[in-house]
Amino acid sequence: MKIDDITLKIIPDSRSEKTLEVEMSLEGHKVVASVPSGKSKGSNEAFVLEPEEALEKFTEIKFNLFTRQFSTLEEFDNYLISLDNTPNKQNLGGNLILVLSLGFTKLLAASQNLEIYQLIAGIIGHKIQKLPLCFYNLIEGGVHAKNSLPFQEYLLVPQTVSPKFSLELAQKAIKILEGKKYQRYGKVTYGDEGGFTMPSDNPREGLELLQEVRSGIDTHSKLSLDVAASVLFKDGKYQIGEKLLDEKEMLSLYHNFASDFPLLSIEDPFQEDDWQGFEDIRRQLGSKVWVVGDDLTTTNPQRITQAYQKGAVNAVIIKPNQIGSVTETIKAATLAQKYGWKVIVSHRSGETMDTFIADLAVGLGADGLKSGCPLQKERLVKYQRLIEIEEML
Ligand code: PGA
Ligand code: ZN
Repeated sequence: MKIDDITLKIIPDSRSEKTLEVEMSLEGHKVVASVPSGKSKGSNEAFVLEPEEALEKFTEIKFNLFTRQFSTLEEFDNYLISLDNTPNKQNLGGNLILVLSLGFTKLLAASQNLEIYQLIAGIIGHKIQKLPLCFYNLIEGGVHAKNSLPFQEYLLVPQTVSPKFSLELAQKAIKILEGKKYQRYGKVTYGDEGGFTMPSDNPREGLELLQEVRSGIDTHSKLSLDVAASVLFKDGKYQIGEKLLDEKEMLSLYHNFASDFPLLSIEDPFQEDDWQGFEDIRRQLGSKVWVVGDDLTTTNPQRITQAYQKGAVNAVIIKPNQIGSVTETIKAATLAQKYGWKVIVSHRSGETMDTFIADLAVGLGADGLKSGCPLQKERLVKYQRLIEIEEML
């Protein structure tokens, strides 16, 4: 397959920050793809190039992409990875490589008359049998919200594999939450992912509020947390409001939360190099909750293998832009599945209207899709794409 045309441009993301969008065409097929960006990032993530600099790099490599034949996605991605020739994509940038990789994936699917999820399922030889659970980030804190809770995300996870029914429940929950927030605080404020913020430094209060909301919609729904603990870590302790907690105190907090609330998962409960913390929580709570690696594992097969060897997690977040190409994303996810872990495909806090991750979650047979709060359009479109896929299946 030889690409006819590629145009790269800079667009604003959901935080009005600059990011990359590509348009690629081949024999009458035209596709558009764009890349998100994170704020609470793991230090092992792929390098992000300034968008202006990425445009310059693209001009240098553009000719090579037109003149070569690529028969598979892996061939295309490997070619870009070899052009970059650095361990963390410092030369071409993970954002530039990924946007091209996403474009090529979509072009490949279009040229074969396949949906993107079908193409991905085909690459890994997966037969689609289920749709992922939706993880809705309804209350925000951490670095994604001003004057809010120390933990980054409080999520509602309806226990239905119908994305349509799931979204209906989430929208009901949002209405209730909005009312409660207005009643309590006289105004409603939002975080980066469209979820509500809450002026409290007590992490328990987010769970209590979500628990109240849950009782108003359906009592089968579960709750999840993304602590994003790396950003709380200062001088060997975790800063929770005014308090500084050590690893043991954090662990006992999680024990309490897991026994007092219907908790499905806890993401990044410890900072990204606290292997001992992860190992302890996985051992003590792993039979009850999903212990999820995000900043810990960064969609990187090496970090995932390390986490497996240490018994650090039993679930993982998969974000294409942490590793910087679709092929490597697929490898990371299938490796985690081989280890028997739960897989949650995720957006970033700075998002675009691209819905690729919904297809990725379905194609991989992932257990979850985390795409923020459906009040923000960049988040909603991913859940809507799942519904579209549900209707096709
Ligand atoms: P980020 O946060 O996109 O700002 O890194 C999302 C997450 O931690 O899951
Ligand atoms: Zn996270």
